[in-house]
Amino acid sequence: MEIIIREAVEADIPVIREMDRDVVLYVASLDGAKDPGAVTIRHRDVFERWLNIEQQKIYLAFEKKNPGVPIGFVWVVTNTEQFTGLPYCFVMDIGIKEGYRRAGIGKALMEKATEYARSLGYKRLKLMVNTRNRGAIGFYRGLGFRVEDLYMKKEL
Ligand SMILES: CC(C)(COP(=O)(O)OP(=O)(O)OC[C@H]1O[C@@H](n2cnc3c(N)ncnc32)[C@H](O)[C@@H]1OP(=O)(O)O)[C@@H](O)C(=O)NCCC(=O)NCCS
Repeated sequence: MEIIIREAVEADIPVIREMDRDVVLYVASLDGAKDPGAVTIRHRDVFERWLNIEQQKIYLAFEKKNPGVPIGFVWVVTNTEQFTGLPYCFVMDIGIKEGYRRAGIGKALMEKATEYARSLGYKRLKLMVNTRNRGAIGFYRGLGFRVEDLYMKKEL
């Protein structure tokens, strides 16, 4: 399958919102969320807030033969470490539509995100992933990501 990757523009926002919502719903289901409707409503607000982050980039992937409908996205933003002030890029989200996975599209999008980080002179790319999301963890590990911080949780 031949794919095209391009930067997202303003007009892509509705379709990105849908794809991002689907990833969030999937991760929420892994975390035991029982009310997808409520997750969707919260996502709308959070998504708008994330879009306001100053320096960021979203890349979209398309099948060459169908360049109107994206089949995946990656969303990367810039941030600084709280105490050291060191700059880093953060992968907010990545998602490939079902039926298009394991074809190298996620990897190609992550390469774009990495290029973006490098183009800004950033030396670090970080992300957060739910430990139940085994597929995504395998994907990130394959790209060279390693666990550095552990975000711990206890059911009360
Ligand atoms: C995780 C995700 C983005 C990977 O995208 P993809 O296009 O399927 O990944 P690629 O085809 O580029 O995979 C590259 C390599 O990563 C690894 N990999 C990808 N998916 C994997 C999986 N489910 N399990 C284990 N390893 C995996 C493999 O080594 C793969 O190479 P291979 O297919 O030659 O073995 C995709 O599965 C997805 O959209 N998942 C649902 C949303 C999600 O969980 N997003 C992340 C939120 S943190």
